[in-house]
Amino acid sequence: MKPPPRVELARLPTPLYPLDRLSNRWGGPRIWMKRDELTGVELSGNKVRKLEFCLGEALAQNAQKVLTCGGLQSNHCRATAIACARLGLKCVVYLRTDEDDPAPDGNHLLAVLAGAEVRFVTRDEYRELGPSDEGYWIPEGASNEVGMWGYLNACEELKERSFSALFHAVGSGGTTAGLAAGSALHGLETPIVGVCVCDTPQFFYDKIDAILERARGRWPELEGVPPARESVELLGGFEGLGYALNRPEEWALLREVAETEGIVLDPVYTLKAMMGLRQAIRDGRFTEDEEVVFLHTGGLFGLFPKRSEALA
Ligand SMILES: Cc1ncc(COP(=O)(O)O)c(C=O)c1O
Repeated sequence: MKPPPRVELARLPTPLYPLDRLSNRWGGPRIWMKRDELTGVELSGNKVRKLEFCLGEALAQNAQKVLTCGGLQSNHCRATAIACARLGLKCVVYLRTDEDDPAPDGNHLLAVLAGAEVRFVTRDEYRELGPSDEGYWIPEGASNEVGMWGYLNACEELKERSFSALFHAVGSGGTTAGLAAGSALHGLETPIVGVCVCDTPQFFYDKIDAILERARGRWPELEGVPPARESVELLGGFEGLGYALNRPEEWALLREVAETEGIVLDPVYTLKAMMGLRQAIRDGRFTEDEEVVFLHTGGLFGLFPKRSEALA
């Protein structure tokens, strides 16, 4: 099989790290963390693995400009802006916001500093975005059949050790699609559990299946990859107040993990996924003899614009 062209951007392999103080505190299985927030500094988190393939394809097509989109605090848009600066590509990010002229902070600030052209769009305008003649288009979250290869390949790292479950956040489905495909291709024994940070499991099963379907169309070797409903378990009920909104009990968990392990989760994605893992442990899903792994997908910069909430 000929994977899409790849450009090296991420520091790989990322470390696998035991959270023994947290495991003892919670009294459940031994919790490990696959630290994909350490794929880099400005260029950090799960998006970097995906961008290696999207931008690899952009370069192979001789694109001069890359366009993408996300929320105002999109980790994906920040990572794309930084990666484009590293590769000498022009970058346009469409950021969805209800504000007229938001002051740059967090991810938005970094995208501006990296020289990306920021175009603010309303929710309605956002829905109309898509490929154009202006440059190479990367969809929201780099969650398509190309970006998916980042986590398809990550399964080579993940298969070195088996766990009772791999928990991760699901925001636009590309990470999960890659894990599902990689799991089938590399014979991963660890069951994959995705925690939806917005929408419903039904919505994401369909979205992931659409990504897998396009991937099967382009790489017939992926024909045997089963539908998402057969290969991953998606958990609903952890979106809380909704996308990018947080409740006091979530902030308490963010602090607990930070104080216990010195690892800071992001409020939008990994915190809600950790709520899912903690609930599974509370529900007695795992014994003390079992081991689980949590995929830290980054997102730290999104914490800063929420500083007053975090301290309340
Ligand atoms: C920090 C972080 N974690 C997890 C996710 C979810 O990954 P995906 O969009 O591939 O579902 C995202 C992006 O949406 C993210 O920025």
